Amino acid sequence: MTDETVPSAYPPPADFAAHANATPALQDAADADRLGFWADQARRLHWHKDFDEVLDWSGAPFAKWFVGGRLNVAYNCVDRHVEAGNGDRVAIHWVGEPGDSRDITYSQLQTEVCCAANYFSSLGLVAGDRVAIYMPMVPEALITMLACARLGLTHSVVFAGFSSTALRSRVDDAEAKLVVTTDGQYRRGEPVPLKANVDVALGSGDEAAQSVQKVLVVQRTGIDIDWVDGRDVWWHETVAESADFHVPEAFDSEHPLFLLYTSGTTGKPKGIIHTSGGYLTQTSYTFHYVFDHKPETDVFWCGADIGWVTGHSYLVYGPLSNGATEIVYEGTPNSPNEHRHFEVIEKYGVTTYYIAPTLIRTFMKWGREIPDAHDLSSLRLLGSVGEPINPEAWRWYREVIGRNNCPIVDTWWQTETGAIMVSPLPGITATKPGSAMAPLPGISAKIVDMAGNPVPDGEQGYLVLDEPWPSMLRGIWGDEQRYIDTYWSKFAKEGWYFAGDGARYDEDHALWVLGRIDDVMNVSGHRISTSEVESALVGHHAVAEAAVIGATDETTGQAIVAFVILRSDATDTGAQLIDELKAQVSIDISPIAKPREINVVPELPKTRSGKIMRRLLRDVAEGKELGDTSTLVDPAVFEAIRANRS
Ligand code: WTA
Repeated sequence: MTDETVPSAYPPPADFAAHANATPALQDAADADRLGFWADQARRLHWHKDFDEVLDWSGAPFAKWFVGGRLNVAYNCVDRHVEAGNGDRVAIHWVGEPGDSRDITYSQLQTEVCCAANYFSSLGLVAGDRVAIYMPMVPEALITMLACARLGLTHSVVFAGFSSTALRSRVDDAEAKLVVTTDGQYRRGEPVPLKANVDVALGSGDEAAQSVQKVLVVQRTGIDIDWVDGRDVWWHETVAESADFHVPEAFDSEHPLFLLYTSGTTGKPKGIIHTSGGYLTQTSYTFHYVFDHKPETDVFWCGADIGWVTGHSYLVYGPLSNGATEIVYEGTPNSPNEHRHFEVIEKYGVTTYYIAPTLIRTFMKWGREIPDAHDLSSLRLLGSVGEPINPEAWRWYREVIGRNNCPIVDTWWQTETGAIMVSPLPGITATKPGSAMAPLPGISAKIVDMAGNPVPDGEQGYLVLDEPWPSMLRGIWGDEQRYIDTYWSKFAKEGWYFAGDGARYDEDHALWVLGRIDDVMNVSGHRISTSEVESALVGHHAVAEAAVIGATDETTGQAIVAFVILRSDATDTGAQLIDELKAQVSIDISPIAKPREINVVPELPKTRSGKIMRRLLRDVAEGKELGDTSTLVDPAVFEAIRANRS
């Protein structure tokens, strides 16, 4: 750093450090006895029956954590706080997009979860059955997740921005018996249909989704909806009328808690399986230490949607298992205007704010006068998740939102890891802008070369997890082999999990995650696979071949850029076709997967073995000088591509 006024690392403020939950003793304990350390973390929860063994790794890579233990996840997130005398504490400050709001105490949450559990049981659902949740950020979404957890039903939340095609494939794959949804959802002030997508997804007659018995509908917007008698039921006529007393049953620590579908390197999304005891242990542990949570005084806000893993772990299970008070916001950050988030922080006295870098960069674009117009002095800790945060955004976040007084935790983890793995500890770590710093106590990670040798500081390598961890995925729903192939084959000999990310240690041994090195893109913190978008594009009759890449984008991190070769009989080749192709991707996957740019090209760059050279396409899309083209069959193809770029 040449500029003396800009420090390269930021130690925590002294008063923060003095009261921090995590002290250096935490790392010492984990180093001394890793499994004993995790047993201690597990015992922060209530176990109906204590476990006999911390970890059984004999069936690697299928782990069993807290073997023999029995617990109820919902009891841990709700009832136990009521029993401890905290029933009047607000669990959820819910803020609706149109301006309505609701405060839900732990006692009220208990009542609502019990009603839902009783109704779900009355439908004949039993532990192990799957429930699909396709809902915006309304309280009933969290209540449904908790009611499922209470009964041992495995929930599968499908992001409400996904299309009906995407919903159907997830419902079918999981063979969900119940789908919970809302009539509509608010999008920038306007009610838009949601139940209608469920109707399309589930189909009728011969085409009907076989597994689904009931569709439970929360009335949110009051818009008109179609109704299928015998299948559809209103929440307010069923759940709300059910008994509010329910005794939770304890389930095995390894009982499946949820499936969450995520994009992989092939077109078919993977249903990531998470179980109960280990998942809750690590989400609860990380929430307490990484967010330095003080239940009496903190107001936590995680800006993620429940459709993503961040919403599962840090909007539901992590905060609620710790008895937190949190914000659940239904809408977008610029509805009705760009002040929305800052008004919420000011009104509720938010202390801990956890968002994705893409939103920070959006705030930067909107200008600092917007946050500057608000009193943000309640904030004491800031978090970042979902993609690498560039140092410039990090510094802006610290200065403008955090008033140079809040530690920032840049947390690296994945749908598959279930909970935070690499992050600063806010009262201990001197943080470097852009670096996730170090694996948490209890977690072991390495950066290695292809042969599995640790790379020297300063060099890039593969990020691997060389020891199992409690909240690790337990497999891919219905496809054990894919689980082994995807995560455990690259370093099979060593028995390490390969995360799909590149990383490096810097000269101070701080860990920098550099992003995906496989064919997964990260657009605004959303994972989208290149092949999923490619298969949507070639699903269009005019397209012969497609290659999709994630190009660097100032705001969204990456933006989707597609290159397509048309079939020789394609008649329309102009702007209308491009619009049609974009629409096709929206319908097949989601509007979030819509390419920013589609280029019609005469040929795609391929290696002699026929592999598309995505790296070179990325160079083209980013306007860079081309890298090494020597392995290409026909280097001249780039001239043609450049000439054709729209
Ligand atoms: C990326 C989101 C850099 C990474 C919790 C990972 C990050 C993928 C960070 C997982 C971070 C997440 N720094 N990159 N702090 N956090 N990523 O499954 O590429 O939606 O593999 O989980 O996001 O995305 P997922």
